[in-house]
Amino acid sequence: MRVLGIETSCDETGVAVYDTDRPGPDGLRAHAVYSQIALHAEYGGVVPELASRDHVRKLLPLVRQTLAEAGIAMRDIDGVAYTAGPGLVGALLVGAGVARSLAWALDVPAIAVHHMEGHLLAPLLEDPDLKPPFVALLVSGGHTQLIEVDAIGRYRLLGETLDDAAGEAFDKTAKLMGLPYPGGPQLAALAEQGRPGAYKFSRPMTDRPGLDFSFSGLKTQVLLAWRDSDQSETTRADIARGFEDAVVDTLAIKCERALDAAGCDTLVVAGGVGANKRLRAKLDAIATKRGGRVRFPRPALCTDNGAMIAFAGALRLQAGQHSDTAVSVQPRWDM
Ligand code: KG4
Ligand code: ZN
Repeated sequence: MRVLGIETSCDETGVAVYDTDRPGPDGLRAHAVYSQIALHAEYGGVVPELASRDHVRKLLPLVRQTLAEAGIAMRDIDGVAYTAGPGLVGALLVGAGVARSLAWALDVPAIAVHHMEGHLLAPLLEDPDLKPPFVALLVSGGHTQLIEVDAIGRYRLLGETLDDAAGEAFDKTAKLMGLPYPGGPQLAALAEQGRPGAYKFSRPMTDRPGLDFSFSGLKTQVLLAWRDSDQSETTRADIARGFEDAVVDTLAIKCERALDAAGCDTLVVAGGVGANKRLRAKLDAIATKRGGRVRFPRPALCTDNGAMIAFAGALRLQAGQHSDTAVSVQPRWDM
C-alpha cells in the first residue's frame, strides 16, 4: 500500500510517499519539505495568511516532485493522508483541500491525521523493532507533552506544559536576545559556544512531584539577566547555554519520572526540539544509566515533515480506518 502524506499545519510544506510493502526506513520512498522560513523572517514569526498562500503555491509542485523522486505514478497511490490539525486553520485547509481532492479524483481513501500523532509515530518509521509500550516526549513549537503509549492509537497524557511549549520558549528567548526568527536552532547553536554554569537558571516545577512543565518563567529570568548584562556576544552565548541547560535538565528530570510512573524502559522523543543535540545527549546518558533505551527520529523527521503523516496514515489505513469525504480541519484538537 502506497500512501501519500501531506503536511501543511504551519510554515512547512511537507510531502512524502510511504510504502507499507517495504517495512522500516525503506518504506519511505521519497519525501520533500519546503520551508517558508525566509518568507516569515522579516516579520519575526509566522504570518498565517502568508503561510496559507505559500502552501497553495508550493503544495502541488511538491506532490509532483515527490512522486517523481519515488518513481511512483499518481494512479498507483492507495491513500492520501493529511494533517487535519492542530495548526493554523488556513494552512490546514490548503492541505486538507488538496488531499481530499486528490483522494476523490483517484477514488482512494483520505486519512485525517493528528499532527502530534504524526510526530509521535515518526520514530517507529525508522525502527520497525520499536513497539509500544513506551513513553513519548513530544517537544515542539506548540506542544510539550509526556505520553504513555500502550498501543498505536492508545495514548495517555502523563503531563504537559501549563504555559509555553519548550520550542516556543526557545524561540521567544532567542528573540528577546535579538536573534532572528526562527530562534530555537540558532539559540542552540549559540549555546555551543557558551560556558556551562556562567548563568544558572531554575529548573521549573522539578522541586515538586508531577509531570507538568512551565517554561514561561524561565523566559522572564533570561530577559532580566540579558537586560542587566553587557549584552556582548560572549554573554549572549553564556546565557543561551544557561537557558538550554535549564530546559534540557527539566525535560530530562520529567522524562525519568515518567518512565518510573509508567514502569517502562523505552523513551521515544519526537517534535522539533528533539533535534536539540544537548537534549539528545542527556537523554541518551539517562537511558544508558537505566539500562533502557531512547529513540529519536533523525533531525529531518523531528521537525515538521510529510513522512510522519504518510506513515501515520499508512498505519491507520492498515487498521482499516479512514475518514469521510468532508474537507474539515481542527485547528485545536486533543490527541
Ligand atoms: O515540530 P516542529 O518542527 O513544529 C511544530 O509543530 O511546532 O518544532 C519546531 C520547534 C521550534 O520552536 C524550534 O525552535 C524548535 O522546534 N527547534 C529547536 C531545535 N530545532 C528546532 N529547539 C531547540 N534546539 C534545536 N536544535
Ligand atoms: Zn510539529
